[in-house]
Amino acid sequence: MTLSDGFLLLIRWFHALAAVTWVGGSLFYVLVIRPQQRNAPEQGAMLGPEALTQFRGLVDTCIAVLIVTGTIMLFDRITSASTPSVYLITISVKIGLALWMFAIARRRWQQRRSAQAQPSVTMVPQRGVFTKAMRLMSGINLTVILGIAVFFLSDLLAFIYQEGLTGR
Ligand code: HEM
Repeated sequence: MTLSDGFLLLIRWFHALAAVTWVGGSLFYVLVIRPQQRNAPEQGAMLGPEALTQFRGLVDTCIAVLIVTGTIMLFDRITSASTPSVYLITISVKIGLALWMFAIARRRWQQRRSAQAQPSVTMVPQRGVFTKAMRLMSGINLTVILGIAVFFLSDLLAFIYQEGLTGR
């Protein structure tokens, strides 16, 4: 193993750690914390503003690590002569979905900040089926769905790259 192989291994490890922390943390919120909150609303919010700020810091760090390490790995892959075009198409889709995830995270923090700045503004409950479906498909739910898709595409990328190397 050369020094550059060791560096890339380290980069890959950080990339995977950041991905697992972000998607795993969001999945834990969607599948454990939120249902618990719904079942016992009298207990109030399980995550206070301090915990949310801490989670925000963690997600911001994960995003920064993913962008830096992902870009390094991307350059390593696309500068290799054996990179097939299907790899480039798949990585483009993956980057598109990753950017979507980053945009959702940014929007959520902005919404939270404006809600904190204007605490007197009360949210009107919206009950329509379409509204419910839209809510389900936005915010942290969508982050989890996109994250799972991005994990699949990442494994697919590794598979395509290996196939390209071995020529099978
Ligand atoms: C700027 C955005 C990103 C770029 C440029 C990027 C790029 C890459 C590249 C080039 C690879 C190597 C694929 C291969 O084996 O050929 C990779 C692996 C991976 N990526 Fe990303 N990625 C980004 C964002 C994300 C996000 C948002 C997630 C998940 C939340 C993610 C999860 C993963 C995982 C799980 C792997 C596999 C790591 C391993 O096998 O150890 N990536 N990424």
